[in-house]
Amino acid sequence: MKKLAVLISGQGSNLQAIIDACDAGNIEGKVCVVVSNRAEAAGLERARLAGIPSLVIDHRGFADRESFDQALLEALASFVPDLVILAGFMRILTPEFIAQYQGRLLNIHPSLLPLYPGLDTHRRALESGDSQTGATVHFVTNELDGGPPILFARVPIATGDTPESLAQAVQRREHDIYPAVTRWFLQDRLLLAPDGAYLDGALLPRQGLDADQLS
Ligand code: GRF
Repeated sequence: MKKLAVLISGQGSNLQAIIDACDAGNIEGKVCVVVSNRAEAAGLERARLAGIPSLVIDHRGFADRESFDQALLEALASFVPDLVILAGFMRILTPEFIAQYQGRLLNIHPSLLPLYPGLDTHRRALESGDSQTGATVHFVTNELDGGPPILFARVPIATGDTPESLAQAVQRREHDIYPAVTRWFLQDRLLLAPDGAYLDGALLPRQGLDADQLS
């Protein structure tokens, strides 16, 4: 059984979607550890209820990003994860961390990348007058929210939408696309290469695959 490590900072609804997909047999793997940088992250309770070991590594206890990431690397090493999943983990990782898990590190971002890397994505989409937004699962590289996209899901923006309403609608789609990509990864179908992300040996489009186009 392949092993997943999930890093969180908050609610952990994506963590839950992945736990549920493992339990349902839709992902041939199991979450071996959940790590949070915040002791109050609600996702820790989800791990506890699922019987998954969890760790809190509070970034405020470290002098710099490098020492925090070193502690994170040491903690993860003992679980020997096949894949590390960032699920609402609100810390920027150092190149040292990313190198250790290169090609085995995924993130989900609440926008249609390459639009709106960074924070406040829903407010920015609304302010730009966009007609749609969404979420993208991508490989993590040293460029913030800039690694090759794998799969995205669109969400229409309607009159009266707020950052909160969009966040909810986008999260519903996240809970489908993150388990789907995790499944592909554990089936050895995904690869990070210098020119982009590959699925089943084919280079993916620059924005990744559109979840609505999957058969
Ligand atoms: C998600 O919207 C994800 O796109 C972003 O952080 C949020 C995490 O939500 N990176 P949750 O903690 O999984 O509920």
